[in-house]
Amino acid sequence: MAPHADELVRRLAAGLRAAELYAPQHPLVQRSIQALASALSAALADASSLVIGFIGDDVVVNDARLGKGSASLTGFVRGLRDREIEKITFHRGVTPTEVQAFLIELAVKKGTQPLADRLAAADVRRIAIGRLSIEEAEPDQVGIEAAKRVYHTAVESAEALWDQARAGEQPDPETARKIIDSLANIVNQDRTSLMALTALKKYDNYTFTHMVNVAALSMAQARALNLDGPLLREFGFAALMHDIGKVHTPLEVLNKPGKLTTDEFTVMKQHVVDGAHILRRTPEMPALAPIVAFEHHLKQDLSGYPENIGHRKLNLCTMIVSIADVFDALRSNRPYREGLATTRIKSIMAEQGNPAFNQILLRRFVNLMGLFPIGTIVRLNTEEVGVVTAEHPDDPFRPQVKILYDATGEQLDAPYLANTWERDSRGAFPKAVVESVDPDGVELDPLTVL
Ligand SMILES: [Fe+2]
Ligand SMILES: [Fe+2]
Repeated sequence: MAPHADELVRRLAAGLRAAELYAPQHPLVQRSIQALASALSAALADASSLVIGFIGDDVVVNDARLGKGSASLTGFVRGLRDREIEKITFHRGVTPTEVQAFLIELAVKKGTQPLADRLAAADVRRIAIGRLSIEEAEPDQVGIEAAKRVYHTAVESAEALWDQARAGEQPDPETARKIIDSLANIVNQDRTSLMALTALKKYDNYTFTHMVNVAALSMAQARALNLDGPLLREFGFAALMHDIGKVHTPLEVLNKPGKLTTDEFTVMKQHVVDGAHILRRTPEMPALAPIVAFEHHLKQDLSGYPENIGHRKLNLCTMIVSIADVFDALRSNRPYREGLATTRIKSIMAEQGNPAFNQILLRRFVNLMGLFPIGTIVRLNTEEVGVVTAEHPDDPFRPQVKILYDATGEQLDAPYLANTWERDSRGAFPKAVVESVDPDGVELDPLTVL
């Protein structure tokens, strides 16, 4: 192990903490930059580079594990994991200026650009961040542009799969595998870009974008549950193909602008059985795929369809796909209605006791997509309008809100705080957030209120 590796990691942790808490010019920040820079130049006196890796809760310096960390180090490791950094490499000759720029950029939890890009822009060349398992990604493999290319290719391939199934052929597993592999890559490396893409509404080829969106949204959920590797891909396959049975649904039913008649709905329901048949006959399709196709409209309490199938516990993948499926369907523009706003969808899905979804997974999904972050302007069920000032630790649907406008739209002289998680004497919630409000429509800068 490099001499004083322990000390070095501690200085790095202290430097990051200082940069998170104080402005760059603050003496504490400046002092910890100097301390880290001198520790680095000592450590790099007889080595050309030094690698600090983070594996689980352990810190590894040049492949040697550091003694069990103190509580302060645990927080540091977790912070890096949140930023998806698995290793930091320092090269000899690293300057205090680079150390300073590095700590300041690292302290930004959610930058507009990936950290690697910001470091490059700040001319930090002797400090690199990356993953342990895979080498640092090529610059053109991450970012929104790369995600866009992957997404468009995936939608085109999904169309090919659809056409094969409709012609009565088996959907080519190789085509599906390519889609899933490319999605798995960005789900791992640049989830934010992918999620942003699935939110675009300009596409009109709903059928194929829906396949890809549900796959992406399901894989992102699965990844957030720590699934990876072959299982993550199986979830992707199942999600991508969940509606493939619709190749047999007549177009006049599929695209009908109004409510379906009872007969038409019976025809529509057939897609879950047809899908399971198609997928069971497709070689190399994971066994999970026909199960999810069969189950994805069943709901938690089996009140959906197919009806009367006896007792059954839904597969975890089905629960995840159901959430992604409904979310994407509500958000997309269809012939019969405009896509809904994200917050509206989330509150519809979260309606008390909605049997369609597993509530724990739904909460996690909402957290993943972000719900009412601090600073969001929201409308309550009471028609009052306010700004979210704090999130409830366990319940993203019930934040604390500073009420600024009363039910008539009159601005309050004395704004007050409402905890929407509090119940009244009868156990009901008197105040609930209904939706977020476009800040452009309100004469108010939410940041001035916080
Ligand atoms: Fe479906
Ligand atoms: Fe669907």
